[in-house]
Amino acid sequence: MLDLLLTRRSCRKFEDKAVEAEKKEKLLQAAQLGPTGKNTRPWEFVVVEKKETLQKLGDCRQPNQPFLPKTPLAIVVLGNTQKTDTWIEDVSIAAVIMQLEAEKLGLGSCWVQIRLRESNQGMSSEEYVRKLLGIPEYMAVLSIIAVGYPSGTMPAHQLDEVDQAKIHTETY
Ligand SMILES: Cc1cc2nc3c(=O)[nH]c(=O)nc-3n(C[C@H](O)[C@H](O)[C@H](O)COP(=O)(O)O)c2cc1C
Repeated sequence: MLDLLLTRRSCRKFEDKAVEAEKKEKLLQAAQLGPTGKNTRPWEFVVVEKKETLQKLGDCRQPNQPFLPKTPLAIVVLGNTQKTDTWIEDVSIAAVIMQLEAEKLGLGSCWVQIRLRESNQGMSSEEYVRKLLGIPEYMAVLSIIAVGYPSGTMPAHQLDEVDQAKIHTETY
């Protein structure tokens, strides 16, 4: 796992190649197998691959996220706010597990923040994505995970980035 964590980097440039159905399925399986508070599993996902929709998703943020229209696969990560007060934690864990599974499958990914951000269209990012995709009010839109085959490579993380000063033993 440490090797995977060292090589995973956010990917914002993708090859013009679709993600195979089996890999898509594995990503969505992985996302739903993580821990959740009281086992409530408050996540839902919208899988977007239509070029036209990806183009519009690019305006979900101010300034816009120019790589989204060129992303082969965008997985919109939602949390059911009526199910649990730990939806942010639960759904963030799911999104990160999906990013790690993507790395394992030879794919690149990037988290695009939606919650608490503004769109290019005079409304919150959340409202913009909700309207575009027909998402009900009680489902919060946390993020979009952009996925595809990476075009180019990014340098791996190094173990010397780990900051020992952030680790406290027994007391702070
Ligand atoms: C909560 C969160 C929000 C992020 N939001 C964005 C974003 O909106 N757009 C983007 O391009 N990257 C976003 N990222 C990716 C970070 O910029 C990236 O993880 C960070 O710079 C470290 O780089 P690395 O992922 O290559 O290790 C986000 C990551 C997290 C965890």
